[in-house]
Amino acid sequence: MCANILETTDLRVEVNGLPILSGVEIEFESGKVSAILGPNASGKSTLAKTIMGLPEYDVVDGDILLDGKSILDKSISERARLGIAYAFQTPPIISGVKLADFICRICPDYQCKAESDYFMGESCSCKSELYEDFDRLGIGNLAKRDLNDGFSGGETKRSELFQVLSMRPRIMLLDEPDSGLDYDSLRIVGKELKAIREKGDTTLVIISHHRYVLEYLEVDRIYILQNGRLAYTGDMRDIPVLEEKGYDRFLADVMR
Ligand SMILES: Nc1ncnc2c1ncn2[C@@H]1O[C@H](COP(=O)(O)OP(=O)(O)OP(=O)(O)O)[C@@H](O)[C@H]1O
Ligand SMILES: [Mg+2]
Repeated sequence: MCANILETTDLRVEVNGLPILSGVEIEFESGKVSAILGPNASGKSTLAKTIMGLPEYDVVDGDILLDGKSILDKSISERARLGIAYAFQTPPIISGVKLADFICRICPDYQCKAESDYFMGESCSCKSELYEDFDRLGIGNLAKRDLNDGFSGGETKRSELFQVLSMRPRIMLLDEPDSGLDYDSLRIVGKELKAIREKGDTTLVIISHHRYVLEYLEVDRIYILQNGRLAYTGDMRDIPVLEEKGYDRFLADVMR
């Protein structure tokens, strides 16, 4: 078993021939929490989507290794089966698919393949853990609604986290799980992520612009992307300095 469950080596990524990432080398240690930071448009979401295998993101050089083996030839669903899950920064609306039905299909624990009418009903064989997850995240009211259709910003984020939790992944790539959350929702999400960290069997990669959720989690390592490159690797002690200086000055100072 590798200490690094996931790593990218000299990763170069293009979208429609346009270079977005270049030479990105990042290692994610098994069971640890990493944060990916960086200015808007620096390539954070692109990195996560490329690891997940979204088709428009072309890997033109380098590699992505899971447990030391390349996953470049694996499709999104194969990567998901290998234990990688991605929570979108802006999840798509999927009309006609109820959240509850979707969960019943993606979660390996739940074999019921229930129609929404059965969901949470007597004939549903879903385990109680699912109900608890719904309750903890305060989104039971969304169960029978179309995925992300008309969900508020906070509901969308909590529902997205719930979906990722339901996949029981080994690696969670969470793209701004804290954006647009009110104080109470932020606490719910922070507590949920902290509990995952404390369980210790999931590797968390969190993209964020805010310190709150990162402090809640006690992030082990931070990575800063700038212009599609890995510009800095550090830890939470850097955050106050970063907040005070902003990315440009912080990076200029550390590179001096
Ligand atoms: N599918 C795409 N088509 C065209 N350009 C893209 C695509 N995906 C990403 N890009 C471009 O790549 C750059 C990096 O985008 P990305 O979404 O990775 O940034 P980010 O660091 O996540 O920013 P933010 O903090 O604003 O979410 C941007 O200039 C973006 O417009
Ligand atoms: Mg982004």
